[in-house]
Amino acid sequence: MTTIMPHGGQLINRLEVGERRELLLTAASKLVSIPINRWTISDLDLIAVGAFSPLTGFLNETDYRSVVEHMRLADGTVWSIPITLAVQPELANQLAIGTEAALVGQEDGIIYGTINIESKYEIDQKHEAVHVFKTADPEHPGVQKLLERPSTYIGGRITVLNRPQPDRFQEFYFDPAETRRLFAERGWRSVVGFQTRNPVHRAHEYIQKSAMEIVDALFLNPLVGETKSDDVPADVRMRSYVTLLDRYYPQERVFLGVFPAAMRYAGPREAIFHAIVRKNYGCTHFIVGRDHAGVGDYYGTYEAQEIFHNFTAEELEITPLFFEHSFFCKTCGNMASNKTCPHPKEDHLTLSGTKVRALLRDGICPPPEFSRPEVARILIEGMVDNSATV
Ligand code: ADX
Repeated sequence: MTTIMPHGGQLINRLEVGERRELLLTAASKLVSIPINRWTISDLDLIAVGAFSPLTGFLNETDYRSVVEHMRLADGTVWSIPITLAVQPELANQLAIGTEAALVGQEDGIIYGTINIESKYEIDQKHEAVHVFKTADPEHPGVQKLLERPSTYIGGRITVLNRPQPDRFQEFYFDPAETRRLFAERGWRSVVGFQTRNPVHRAHEYIQKSAMEIVDALFLNPLVGETKSDDVPADVRMRSYVTLLDRYYPQERVFLGVFPAAMRYAGPREAIFHAIVRKNYGCTHFIVGRDHAGVGDYYGTYEAQEIFHNFTAEELEITPLFFEHSFFCKTCGNMASNKTCPHPKEDHLTLSGTKVRALLRDGICPPPEFSRPEVARILIEGMVDNSATV
């Protein structure tokens, strides 16, 4: 069974249940409320179930500054993405250090949890953007989200009293404690995690299966939290994953479970974050391909791989598996990368995202060497159903 320890050595659990939860909920209803949006609700829940171990709450000022500048928590533990709680400055004035506040869904009024206020601080958004996203360009989707938030942050340990309820695909939601148990029950000693925010095309399948040759199992862990509006909606993707796994993957060596986090599009830093989180879910290996978590031209093709060299194998524990840009080579007659194929570019089947979208919009399946027809058909249907751009 997999024996990898959670990041920081202990799987965090900040969920309250039973009678104590009832008592805390009653108490929370009398506290000052901090409104939280869906993104923050997902961060809160992921902290509570240990997906973001060793975090026990939103970053306090010391940890925040250390993460932004050094990709480490103040105690030296590797952590690359600031997980923070932004509040309006007027509200921050009502929140005293050492007190508790309720975290309340701004859309539904549900008390999701509470926070012990340890720290209250002003940040420089541009500074955060340049360090985390390597750009302050407001067109970058991650920077845009950052700039939409107030620049006053509250840090402190959280407690979750209500969990967000998925409206679809409940059967694919697993907490880290569950995936760890289920991997162990299956006797898997090594599991490779695969992050994706896209349908699984042949290049994804190729790198997953290449990795599966050297580990016991694949944890297909699509991100289903907030993504930018032109990414394929999660429900369409889920249909495509289920069909693909059913037809082309060995059932006893794959596990499909969602990652209900928001996409940051922070490229290299997000690759580190994605790897650490998958370690918390029990993965021993993690796939990082070309331009992992990238967007537009903000990051170099292999920057998300190079960033791993800043850390030792002992610090990360999870082993990254790096893959070069993969494609179908007409001369080789198979999937390949520049590491394995000697033929010129003209022999490679490469389709831009724009071209694929145009084909699907016209109801045309891209070539089977690019995308399995079963997947393409689901994406075409999805475009009709959601009027979405795929
Ligand atoms: S991501 O934003 O979640 O990284 P995507 O779902 O496209 O985007 O990628 C999932 C994983 O597959 C990432 O590790 C990415 O680097 C890798 N990947 C995507 N396409 C290719 C490709 N053609 N060749 C090699 N790796 C790829």
